[in-house]
Amino acid sequence: MQWARAANYAVEQDRAGNVFARRTGRRDGPAVLSGSHLDTVPTGGPYDGAYGAVAALCALEALDAAGIVTEHPVEAVAWAGEEGSRFPLGCLGSGAFAGLNAMAEIDALRDEDGTTFAAARDAADGLLPGVPVRAGFPVPAGYVELHIEQGPILEHRGVRLGNVTAIAGQVRVEVDVHGEAGHAGTVPMELRRDALSAAAELALELEATAREIGDCVLTVGRLSVFPNQTNVIPGRVTLRIDARSADEGRLAALGAAIADRAESLAERRNVRVESALIEERRVVTMDPRLRGAVAEAFAELGEPAIDVPSGAGHDAMCVAAVAPAAMIFVPSAGGRSHVGNEYTAPEDLQLGVAALTRSIAAIDRLLSKAT
Ligand code: GLV
Ligand code: MN
Ligand code: MN
Repeated sequence: MQWARAANYAVEQDRAGNVFARRTGRRDGPAVLSGSHLDTVPTGGPYDGAYGAVAALCALEALDAAGIVTEHPVEAVAWAGEEGSRFPLGCLGSGAFAGLNAMAEIDALRDEDGTTFAAARDAADGLLPGVPVRAGFPVPAGYVELHIEQGPILEHRGVRLGNVTAIAGQVRVEVDVHGEAGHAGTVPMELRRDALSAAAELALELEATAREIGDCVLTVGRLSVFPNQTNVIPGRVTLRIDARSADEGRLAALGAAIADRAESLAERRNVRVESALIEERRVVTMDPRLRGAVAEAFAELGEPAIDVPSGAGHDAMCVAAVAPAAMIFVPSAGGRSHVGNEYTAPEDLQLGVAALTRSIAAIDRLLSKAT
């Protein structure tokens, strides 16, 4: 916010916690929007998300430095809560912005401590003090997001820029397995209803199912064990399941398999199972015309590039519901991400900013022609 203000951009925020910096254009109205998220997974590195938010601000300044006057205003955005790490909804900020998640739904989300999103936002360290709060979510003219690839394809192909074709869809499901807690020393094995053993069986079955379905991924990334004591039989376990595919049919098959395996587990293991769908994002194809503008920008730089799909989720998949959207990838060393040692070389980060700046200008020209 301070950086944006120092550069003379108007700063605003909204009730989902997204922050915007606006560079004026010849005309007022819908902006060409660019950015990414500032939050990370707790074990994550410094690039996933933050790079794209910072790069958007750099791109605004690069437009200034080049004396480029755009038709549309250009806005940099820092989206809130993309990872779903604190509140259990991924793309929380951009989901609200695009109207895919109602503010009432988001306000009611609770973190581990039971604090609601609304309470966190309205607390003294919630919204940024002294920054105007937008009443609603103004639809942008177009959106372009720069992000590290988080996978190995660019590095493997020896290119430094990717023009994203589509973003895989995902479902997140929370499964509660209720068994019966008891003394670890006294209850014979045949009389137990161990919730953790049942949950482990479910995780392994789902892993095998994802392999069978093919062209999809499934992760049980989080387990909460109650009471989580060495000498107590686990009475309840909560699993969070993340399943993804770029193919809607396979994604639907995964969703159905999770429900089916949970049901048969309950019967087989004599436990009670409750499942709740906590998030569902469709497969999203990037806008062909904006992808053309990004390709034009890459060509201006004279830098070889390839088309790449995204297995990771991004705010772009939400924004694409209300405006044409495109994404640019730069390489990730070893394809590593969501781990502390994710790395992208400084010269690749700089190239990404140059590509983003030119893409914003090209998208502004394209959308000015069209309207
Ligand atoms: C976001 O990083 C996601 O793909 O989960
Ligand atoms: Mn991430
Ligand atoms: Mn990200």
